Amino acid sequence: MTNNGSLVASNIYHAYDAAAGRIQALENVSFSLGNETFTCLVGPSGCGKSTLLRILAGLVQPESGSVSLNGSTLDSPRRKIGLVFQDATLMPWRTVIQNIMLPLEFTGLSRQEQRRRADSMLELLGLSEFANAYPSALSGGMAQRLAIGRALIYDPEVLLLDEPFGALDALTREYVSEELLRIWSQHKKTVLMVTHSIQEAILLSDRVLVMSPRPGRIVKDVTIDLPRPRSLDDMLGTDFVRLEAQVRAALRR
Ligand SMILES: Nc1ncnc2c1ncn2[C@@H]1O[C@H](COP(=O)(O)OP(=O)(O)O)[C@@H](O)[C@H]1O
Ligand SMILES: [Mg+2]
Repeated sequence: MTNNGSLVASNIYHAYDAAAGRIQALENVSFSLGNETFTCLVGPSGCGKSTLLRILAGLVQPESGSVSLNGSTLDSPRRKIGLVFQDATLMPWRTVIQNIMLPLEFTGLSRQEQRRRADSMLELLGLSEFANAYPSALSGGMAQRLAIGRALIYDPEVLLLDEPFGALDALTREYVSEELLRIWSQHKKTVLMVTHSIQEAILLSDRVLVMSPRPGRIVKDVTIDLPRPRSLDDMLGTDFVRLEAQVRAALRR
């Protein structure tokens, strides 16, 4: 099947050779992400989440197992897959608009078309008035939105987010996760996001994958069948609380 944006991980094993010996990071990880679905990955610190995302992005070759995108095996980084890390790695000497245009500079699009896309992305992010500011003038939440926008501007089929809100304070984090919901509803992508917040995972996702302590395995696959659009107020609902208990129980196992 060649569904755009369908990412499949099959029997992934990965180990690191460290001074203290071999560290088995991932063990038999398999799942399939449907086109335009939003999935969150939760698991204890050090269980292999970032390793898994790097493998899915084609940056690291797994020791065994494979990743395929739209039915073909992935063995190197692809433009169709965007990856965003915890700290927005913005270039401090470039303005906001120049930062967001960066990925387009290698595409062969005309300067005018690059500018048009960058302007509309800034608008979507609610950052238009900061187009000519430098990253140092942005709050943490704004910088992180910009980093997500920079990954989206390529129009990737899959977006991988590694604890994108990890460095933000709790209030900013809630606000930015609602923003991400809004952006995703307008720019549907297949998303896999690592988070350590169970509530954030449930608020955003169609599905939550729970990993075991290292070596990381998928121990639970929870379907989040809450209606959309969602907002922070939904976190008080009984269905939300029930799902939260289910994810927490899987993490404790
Ligand atoms: N480059 C590396 N070299 C050696 N060990 C590593 C490397 N990267 C990660 N690890 C180890 O692999 C395990 C999983 O790491 P990681 O994927 O970063 O976990 P998580 O993102 O879930 O916190 C950890 O024990 C970590 O110390
Ligand atoms: Mg990590």
